[in-house]
Formats: sequence, C-alpha cells, structure tokens
Amino acid sequence: MIVTIDGPAGTGKSTVAKTLASRLGFEFLNTGAMYRAVAYACLQREIDLADVEAVGQVAPTLEIAFTKSRLILDGHDVTEAIHGQEVTLGASVVAANPLVRGCLVALQQAAARGTSLVTEGRDQGTVVFPEAECKFFLTASPVERAKRRQLELQAKGEVLPLEDLLSQQALRDERDQTRACSPLQPAEDAILIDTTAMSLEEVTGYLESLVHQRLA
Ligand code: DC
Repeated sequence: MIVTIDGPAGTGKSTVAKTLASRLGFEFLNTGAMYRAVAYACLQREIDLADVEAVGQVAPTLEIAFTKSRLILDGHDVTEAIHGQEVTLGASVVAANPLVRGCLVALQQAAARGTSLVTEGRDQGTVVFPEAECKFFLTASPVERAKRRQLELQAKGEVLPLEDLLSQQALRDERDQTRACSPLQPAEDAILIDTTAMSLEEVTGYLESLVHQRLA
C-alpha cells in the first residue's frame, strides 16, 4: 500500500509521515530531503542553481540514500547540512527544474517497488504515485506554519523573527505553487486536512484511523 502526504512546508508532513510509517510498519520516504540534497550538492560545487542544464547534469550523478531517516549523499551524512537557510531556499529553485524532477521521481518510484510506503512531498499523490490507495493533503494557516518553523529553528539554536520566516515562506510557496512542472496542488482524490488547530499527535492518529479504514 502507498500512502501519500502532500502539502506546503510547516504543515507537519514530515513528522506525521515518519510517525505514521513507523506505526503502520511501512517504509518512510522524505522526498523534500532529496531536492535539498541536490541543492546542497550544487551549492558545494558552486553551480548557479538557476542554471537548468548544469543542475540537471549533476542530479543523476548523485548517490542519494536514506539510512534510518538520515540522508546519505555520496556516502556522507548531510541530514543537518541540508536544513540550513541557504539550502532551504535553494531547494525550491532546483525543485522547479524538470531535469531534476525527472531524475528524483524515478528514484522515488523505485523506492516504492515491492514495499508498503508512507511518502511525503508536494507531488506524491498527483504525479509520482497517482494510483496510491491513501492520499492526504495537509494545510495550515501561514502564521501557524511560520511559528512551527520558528520553534524548529529555535530548538537548533537559531533565532529568527516571525516576519522574516513569513516572507521566506511566502517566496517558497509562490515558487512551489506556480512552477510549470508538478506544481504543489492536492490530488483530486486526496483528503484535505487543516492542521492549524491540531497537534501533530492528533493529525497522526486521524490519518492512522483513515488508513486502517482503507486497509479494512
Ligand atoms: O519539504 P521540504 O521543505 O523539505 O522541501 C524542500 C523543497 O523541495 C521545497 O521547495 C518543495 C520541494 N519539493 C518538491 O517540489 N517536491 C517534493 N516532492 C518535495 C519537495
């Protein structure tokens, strides 16, 4: 069975998807981390992220793997490095690159072969797994999403004003929603869940009950 969880940043997707996968005994795929890994690798090589051809040439040469939810890029654990501010903004630029998307979508589909999977991202229910049995699309108010990001950064010792996070978030949303290739949008058959007033535990429990209904 494939469970897809799509939606913008700050809606709790990653945490919910990871916990749900572990409760169901399914594999977990964090596709945002893959786009981040490509951005990180290009920044390391001092490649202009807006150079579609150059970035598109790098993507297929990278070895991207997950080990116990850690992202291993060409043999190095880059889990923390891919969550810095520069990579976060850069990831939404490389995610608009059709060459990168083609390459990563193939890897994501390969990861699902012969296994049950909870996968999270922006296009999992629409493009990557249109046949998935359970599709969810999470939303939350912009302020709530930015507050969640602020808390996440605070936990890592980074203090950023809410206004800055709101404007960065608006820029990323705009890029993700308006790009020509696989823009962020709910699949027609996705269940929409507004998580603004819900705890992540409540969201996970709700999704788990819906998956069990589907399995039954
Ligand atoms: O979920 P995230 O913040 O880690 O995602 C990083 C970037 O990658 C973000 O700009 C959205 C983009 N992305 C995408 O376009 N498609 C996906 N399946 C996952 C992420």
